[in-house]
Amino acid sequence: MSIPSSVEAATSRRGIAAEAARRRTFAIISHPDAGKTTLTENLLLAGGAIRAAGQVRARGENRRTRSDWMKIERERGISVSASVMTFDHAGLMFNLLDTPGHEDFSEDTYRTLTAADAAVMVLDAAKGIEPQTLKLFEVCRLRDIPIVTFINKMDREAQDPFALLDEIGSKLALDPAPLYWPAGSGGRFKGMLDLGRQMFIPFAKKGAGGAGNEDGHPKSIAFRGNAITSYLAADELDELTDNAELVAGASKPFDVQSFLEGHMTPVFFGSALRHFGVDELLAGLGVYAPPPKGVAALKAGEAALVEPGDAEVSGFVFKVQANMDPNHRDRIAFLRLTSGEFERGMKLKVQNTGRQLSVNAPIMFFASDRELAEQAFAGDVIGIPNHGILRVGDSLSQSGTLRFAGLPNFAPEILQRVRVKDPLKAKHLKKALEGLAEEGVTQLFRPTLGADFIVGAVGQLQFEVMADRLANEYQLEVIFEASPYAEARWIAGDKADLEDFQGKHRMQMAADIDNQPVFLAKTAWETGYVAERYPKVAFARSKERA
Ligand code: G4P
Repeated sequence: MSIPSSVEAATSRRGIAAEAARRRTFAIISHPDAGKTTLTENLLLAGGAIRAAGQVRARGENRRTRSDWMKIERERGISVSASVMTFDHAGLMFNLLDTPGHEDFSEDTYRTLTAADAAVMVLDAAKGIEPQTLKLFEVCRLRDIPIVTFINKMDREAQDPFALLDEIGSKLALDPAPLYWPAGSGGRFKGMLDLGRQMFIPFAKKGAGGAGNEDGHPKSIAFRGNAITSYLAADELDELTDNAELVAGASKPFDVQSFLEGHMTPVFFGSALRHFGVDELLAGLGVYAPPPKGVAALKAGEAALVEPGDAEVSGFVFKVQANMDPNHRDRIAFLRLTSGEFERGMKLKVQNTGRQLSVNAPIMFFASDRELAEQAFAGDVIGIPNHGILRVGDSLSQSGTLRFAGLPNFAPEILQRVRVKDPLKAKHLKKALEGLAEEGVTQLFRPTLGADFIVGAVGQLQFEVMADRLANEYQLEVIFEASPYAEARWIAGDKADLEDFQGKHRMQMAADIDNQPVFLAKTAWETGYVAERYPKVAFARSKERA
């Protein structure tokens, strides 16, 4: 007997929803040096995605000095693994999204977080919340992303854990709910108590690169039993007992709902470098981090909620990376899937251009290797090689009618004029700048009058990356010069009002990459001044693509 197609469709929808439900897509945020790279590596190790530490990429200062940083970015294999890493562990599919650590790339980070369902906030136990942690946290809050806290470097002298929790409460307005409690720190770090199970997990000192040692993770010991005395001296046991009681009385018990709503953060402790507390963190992510949710969208212009289990395959591009393979001038668009069961070879349509794309060679990123993705579900990220068809913010779906919002461009904080040294290459420069703007590296403004290009960025480092890429990928030597402009604002309003404003400010008008009008102000004061004089014109700091 054949199965009626409606029953078949319903069964397969359940399958799609179940697959999506086992996805955990998350990012790690931290201040530079708190241990994000080390934790990433050890999470991959814990998840069985890599075998030995040291595979992810170079660490520490080396990575951050400018030239090395760019060299690393140019080593394409490394860029691939640094963007998203997928691993299948304990029945769940984890997708770890990498976010750039440097604040000059905050826009990139914001966009990456639009693709994450949860974030791990790594704190250095000696330093607590640092400026960049706070900035990134605010981005998470804007996006309502639930946050798991990992207090790292417990093998070094740490601040009092109670003070660290207070800081989370006061600086982030987030209720910290410790799931573990450390016994000492630095040379006296003995391990941690699983507050729920009342089991003690001893810290076994391992040698350098110990994460890969054969002895594996030390077992846990009943906290109230006799064996504990082999691990903790009497005074250490007393202290941990007192602290555990204190913390039970002082902090709110962990409430998953409150965590999912962004009011509470479960707190884990450990040492990423010593691979301590990392298995617990991964298990915690599996249990508490949410699977993909429904995403608000416009379907053929009407508000709609796209559910992960919906049959139609859909997703949005949150990042575009060029030239990952130096032998090909390809770009990879990173598509976060929002619904359906994606299969290789499927045709997807770009909502705003209506262009259709056969996704024949999608890439999934299994730790350090690129692999062809045969199948993917909501929560997964696939890389789509293309020649400039896809841009950040594009919505893709089978019908081509779905549009996801929430990937804005932000007004740049630095505006510079860019010129090419060889004037014969001016045309070439235009193409290159457009390419980089489409990738979201920098923003491009073409003034209505004059032939120069104005490039906008959030931080100085973006210009350096840009100059480096123009030289290496496009063989263009460019000069950046100070521009007379301090701010850029997208303008909107009635046609007549806009024309009136543009007519009177032609000298300061420009068009962005989508040909939308932008007012370039010489000072912040001027922005305020024109806004006051032209109340019918809106001057926006951010823009969503139409
Ligand atoms: P980041 O990506 O957040 O910038 O930090 P990264 O992992 O690169 O770590 C920064 C430094 O902190 C590294 O030291 C790293 O080894 C160290 N580190 C990370 N986690 C721990 C930990 O749990 N305990 C201790 N003691 N150190 C930790 P480095 O000297 O800059 O680099 P390296 O020479 O060790 O590679």
